[in-house]
Amino acid sequence: MPRLKLRVQAPSPAPKILKIKGNMDAITAIRTRRSIRSFNNQPVPPDIIETIIDSGRLAPSANNVQPWEFVVITREETRKKIAEITDYGKFIAQSPVCIATFCKDTKYYLEDGCAATENMLISAHALGLAGCWVAGDKKRYCQEIAHLLGVPPHYKLVSLIPLGYSDKTVNAHHKRDLGEVLHWERF
Ligand SMILES: Cc1cc2nc3c(=O)[nH]c(=O)nc-3n(C[C@H](O)[C@H](O)[C@H](O)COP(=O)(O)O)c2cc1C
Repeated sequence: MPRLKLRVQAPSPAPKILKIKGNMDAITAIRTRRSIRSFNNQPVPPDIIETIIDSGRLAPSANNVQPWEFVVITREETRKKIAEITDYGKFIAQSPVCIATFCKDTKYYLEDGCAATENMLISAHALGLAGCWVAGDKKRYCQEIAHLLGVPPHYKLVSLIPLGYSDKTVNAHHKRDLGEVLHWERF
């Protein structure tokens, strides 16, 4: 009988289990999320931020390449600089946290980075936070923000997500009806 070769593998580090704080189901979170652009001064605990980033890194990606890196910016000075650099992201100056999602310049970097961004927006909402997607990719300020945050070359800024608690409630934007956008079998 052939002898089995035992491959000795280095023990992998114990997975870090993040405590889940939200209790909103996914469909409710998707249905009730709104872009909110004003925040109060309540600080966001680091474990909440980690849970949100964790949701980002679990997003699907083409060939499971996972090209993303997430930079969390809490320093007011840096957020103010980012706010100045952007055109429609001035409210980043007032958000206690901003997550910048960068992706390696892979074939599907944009799709992958957007999937991660949406996961984070939904999770943030489920955790009781307000936030808004601020454009990264295609904006003239991408390089400037990458430079400010010390990002190595060949990474693309996909999005900025200012986050925080908010006292503001906003009305839902008009969304096209399901019957208008759903086509069974053929367009
Ligand atoms: C790719 C993308 C880029 C966006 N960029 C900005 C932005 O730069 N500034 C901003 O205030 N909102 C931005 N938004 C948020 C949209 O304005 C918002 O999602 C849209 O008006 C619908 O509102 P809702 O998110 O409440 O459903 C962006 C959203 C997406 C998906």
